Amino acid sequence: MAHLVFVEITALGVQSIAYAKRQGHEVTLLRSPLYDFITPPAERAEAERLADRTLHAPDLQDVEVLRALLAEHGMGPGDVDAVLSTLSLCVLPAARLAERLGARGTPYEGAAAARDKGRCREILRAAGVPSLGFAVVSALPEALRAADTIGYPVVIKPVSGVGKAVTSIVADAAGLRAHFADAAEELRSMEPGLAAELDERYIVEELAVGELYSVEVAADGERFTPLVAVGRKMGRDNPVLELGCTVPSGLPAAEEAELGAYAAQVCRALGLGLGIFHVEVMRTARGFRLIETNPRISGGSLPDSVRLATDRSLFEILVDLFLGAPTPSGPLPWRRAASHTFLAAAHDTVVPADLAADWFEEFRPRLHSGFSRAVPGGRLRAMNGNFDPFGLIRVLDTDPDRAAEECARVRGDIEKRLGFPLTAVAERALTGAAAAESAAAQSGGH
Ligand SMILES: Nc1ncnc2c1ncn2[C@@H]1O[C@H](COP(=O)(O)OP(=O)(O)OP(=O)(O)O)[C@@H](O)[C@H]1O
Ligand SMILES: [Mg+2]
Repeated sequence: MAHLVFVEITALGVQSIAYAKRQGHEVTLLRSPLYDFITPPAERAEAERLADRTLHAPDLQDVEVLRALLAEHGMGPGDVDAVLSTLSLCVLPAARLAERLGARGTPYEGAAAARDKGRCREILRAAGVPSLGFAVVSALPEALRAADTIGYPVVIKPVSGVGKAVTSIVADAAGLRAHFADAAEELRSMEPGLAAELDERYIVEELAVGELYSVEVAADGERFTPLVAVGRKMGRDNPVLELGCTVPSGLPAAEEAELGAYAAQVCRALGLGLGIFHVEVMRTARGFRLIETNPRISGGSLPDSVRLATDRSLFEILVDLFLGAPTPSGPLPWRRAASHTFLAAAHDTVVPADLAADWFEEFRPRLHSGFSRAVPGGRLRAMNGNFDPFGLIRVLDTDPDRAAEECARVRGDIEKRLGFPLTAVAERALTGAAAAESAAAQSGGH
């Protein structure tokens, strides 16, 4: 029996605690109300129920406080085998705590390099890994100079940003001015647990144009293995917004292998030696280019879609890795395709009061799974980042393009039923089987 310490937990991350308990391990969960906004109450309660003990702290960033808390409960170096976090905001204290306790953990330097988007790109540049033009800035005049050098359009985002906070694509100097003007207001209304991550530094980056993918890369201390590559749905009107995923990626095998090798190379260059890492990559006309490396497993709903597509749980692999197991030998073979799309309001909206309370049930027969929190007369916030969607729909199929297309059709019908615009998903070029079918149809073939 091993002893795992989890620093906070995400909704789906509860599956890793459940697995550790099924395997007979001891679990200590460290929690703070600062992160309540991320994990719904039911999942938080489930995590606490499953864990052998939950220790609460006002803040989880001060590792000395965490060490003292564990010591108070009789746990010191030698009593803990591994420390991990499934939450971006807590990966650094988890890595540091592991070091201090002499337990297994993601190497702190690697996690810190990944969490700093400027440092990450410096390391890639030094290692000769293809990346994007960038500069780290603290104020508007510097940002204007950087954008002139890089060339508009550019992306500007906090160096340690998460969840799409204060992130803009800007076409010109006026756009950069608006970014800084709006940032002040966005920072003021932000959750304190998120605001604490950000400082005055932004990264100005070359805009990568193409289709977005993500790869879960597993590392066991020696090997870096791309486990699964996924196609990501971006906002049509604001490509920064993330609207879902399709597993598998639909890329031809050779290209998917190239994408996986690139993501693994990024993790190796950063020194992310232990864990599962969520690497976001744009497929541009010049090749694959890193958008961001998250030094933790995928958040959101993707791990469930991966489980449905591969019959393997990323959370089980995660726990095994932290307890010394080797990475799987290669990408997880997929058995079927899964596609999910978030439901979010395009504008601040009130749900029509005359909508049936059980309106979502009409759509269930067309879905594998899904949910909606939109209730008649309820208010919905316009989607601005990861925390704003009010629902999710998921479709399974034998082919990824068909799964994504059916998901899009259901989403369109839901929009009609609700009677207000949902955040629109950008069209993706078809790949794989559907691309071949449509090419055949266009050339008059069958
Ligand atoms: N250089 C870039 N070129 C093109 N698009 C970009 C670039 N940087 C960011 N984006 C877009 O903005 C989104 C958010 O950027 P990024 O992933 O770095 O921020 P984040 O806030 O850490 O996101 P999250 O924590 O939700 O993964 C990306 O998913 C991508 O769609
Ligand atoms: Mg991201």
